[in-house]
Amino acid sequence: MRRRHFLRCFALSLAIFLFSTPGFGQETRKAKEGILLVAFGTSVPEAKKSFDAIDKAYKAEFPDTPIAWAFTSQIIRKKLAKRGIHTGSIADGLATLAKEGVKICRVQSLHMMAGREFASLARSVLLDIQKHPGRFEAVYLGRPLLETAQDADIVADAILAYMKNRRKNGEALVLMGHGNGHGRADLVFEGLRSRFRDIDSNVFLATVEGGRGLDQVKKEMAKAGVKRAILAPLMIVAGDHARNDLAGDEEESWASQLKASGMGVDKELTGLGEIPGIAQLFTLHTRSNQDNLCLEPVKP
Ligand code: CO
Repeated sequence: MRRRHFLRCFALSLAIFLFSTPGFGQETRKAKEGILLVAFGTSVPEAKKSFDAIDKAYKAEFPDTPIAWAFTSQIIRKKLAKRGIHTGSIADGLATLAKEGVKICRVQSLHMMAGREFASLARSVLLDIQKHPGRFEAVYLGRPLLETAQDADIVADAILAYMKNRRKNGEALVLMGHGNGHGRADLVFEGLRSRFRDIDSNVFLATVEGGRGLDQVKKEMAKAGVKRAILAPLMIVAGDHARNDLAGDEEESWASQLKASGMGVDKELTGLGEIPGIAQLFTLHTRSNQDNLCLEPVKP
């Protein structure tokens, strides 16, 4: 009896000693990190290739780190669920990571820029933190693709390199951004447009819902004497907008409108997520964010 008691005490002391020794068990003591990738979502199966490429890049960059996905569009989540594909909301994704023991959570926006979708993502994450205080030690929110002038350079270079062998000789490149009236989204597009124009004056950029529409670009191209253009989405996935509004057969699509104005039209329906270098830029934003949303803001 005494002997067993002694052994138990000895084992306990040994465990305390080992775990308090610096260097021992460091792996187990280090707070577990996890990543939540957040996109609007797409129900177009071919467009999913972009998300797959991003997922692959994250698994390569962050091995042994749990990676969860969230789609913010409820309509798309429901559509996919009917096909047996289950991608959760932001709250679902955070809950999944918490269940896996994640303490340091890196939420990454897969948006082009800090427009309406990003603003709503930031709000959702903050609300979730308030609902579950203490669930994570830290939650970092990675900024979208286009934040800095350097990001614009990387994105412009990546797109031009990808298009190099796809553009016919002298062919203009017309990029369709989504755009929206929220915050500085239009100005972020202007920043990227200016980077493109510094490198290649035969690139034209317009948006579906932003301040700069196709009409402006048509005038600009007429002035430049463009005879032939290749159309491509400036969006992470080549989904519904790319397939219908950009390249569709309907009269109002950009392809139809440009054809009607006498222009030769080619199409390259590749989402940016598939273009080498873009997913890596997202991973850089994931690593670099130091702004822990779990902390109280510093009082002025
Ligand atoms: Co849209």
